Amino acid sequence: MRRQRLVFGTYDVPDARLLDRFVAAGGRAVDVANVYRDGESSRAVARWLRGRDAADVTLYAKGCHPPRCAPAQVGEEVDRARALLGVERLDVFLLHRDDPALPVTAWADALLEQVAAGTIAAFGVSNWTVERLRALHREVGGAALHAFSNHFSLAELVAPPWPDCLAMTASELRDMGTLGMSVIAWSSLATGFFAGRDVPGWDSPRNRERRERARDLAGELDTTPTAVALAYVLAQPAHVLAAVGTTSATHLDDAFAAAELELSPTQTAWLASAPS
Ligand SMILES: NC(=O)c1ccc[n+]([C@@H]2O[C@H](COP(=O)([O-])OP(=O)(O)OC[C@H]3O[C@@H](n4cnc5c(N)ncnc54)[C@H](OP(=O)(O)O)[C@@H]3O)[C@@H](O)[C@H]2O)c1
Repeated sequence: MRRQRLVFGTYDVPDARLLDRFVAAGGRAVDVANVYRDGESSRAVARWLRGRDAADVTLYAKGCHPPRCAPAQVGEEVDRARALLGVERLDVFLLHRDDPALPVTAWADALLEQVAAGTIAAFGVSNWTVERLRALHREVGGAALHAFSNHFSLAELVAPPWPDCLAMTASELRDMGTLGMSVIAWSSLATGFFAGRDVPGWDSPRNRERRERARDLAGELDTTPTAVALAYVLAQPAHVLAAVGTTSATHLDDAFAAAELELSPTQTAWLASAPS
């Protein structure tokens, strides 16, 4: 179900009513991180989780953001995420960054130790190169490696909005289908670029042309350019999930409306083929 491919992003501290609305509309996954708003976003999710059936929501919890990006700190970061979120065991713990100077085995050992201890059910990585992800997959197999999260949207990333953030291409996304994991596209709306915001990380002639095309198609389909851009991400294979951040009930409803919007292969190809 396409609605379940939306992931509620918590870079901004989430409002409990918005999270309720998200689940009522069919959303089933929340993206959190130890560093978001210095832990306040995770605490808000913990308050929301209290008294509800946590089993109907998957939490993707990130830790080990620099300067705490070391295998020796995985245990502490897992414990911090569990404490902030008020859960005994994390559904999926993701490394927020890589340290490419280290062999992937160092990370693999630290993550598998947490699985063995029962503090995490599964793990993943974010802002890793696809090459390093594949090396990790070879090391640990598919059993516990459940998620990968880099940037992907209709707009190509031209400058990382945060240091060492990485994007992935549409062909990399497709190829990752063979790894049997969920791939979460973060900032899937290019942080408001399609709503007309000229955010430096995505502002380029090619992306402006893509935004024009999204506007044209939105006019034809009687929807918004943002909805078209999100539908483009959801037009990728089913293992691709879209992390969306919003503080607005209307924008959240727009995201679910976009999940119903199925673009044709021709429309998808036309959006992505904008010349610079
Ligand atoms: N793994 C990582 O390193 C990483 C990096 C970045 C983000 N993330 C995750 O991905 C999530 C989403 O990314 P993001 O929050 O950076 O960016 P995003 O989802 O691409 O865009 C969010 C922005 O778009 C606006 N917006 C949303 N829906 C809209 C609509 N229908 N019309 C107009 N504007 C709309 C929001 O404003 P309103 O509040 O007004 O709706 C907000 O300013 C984050 O919350 C976080 O969980 C992960």
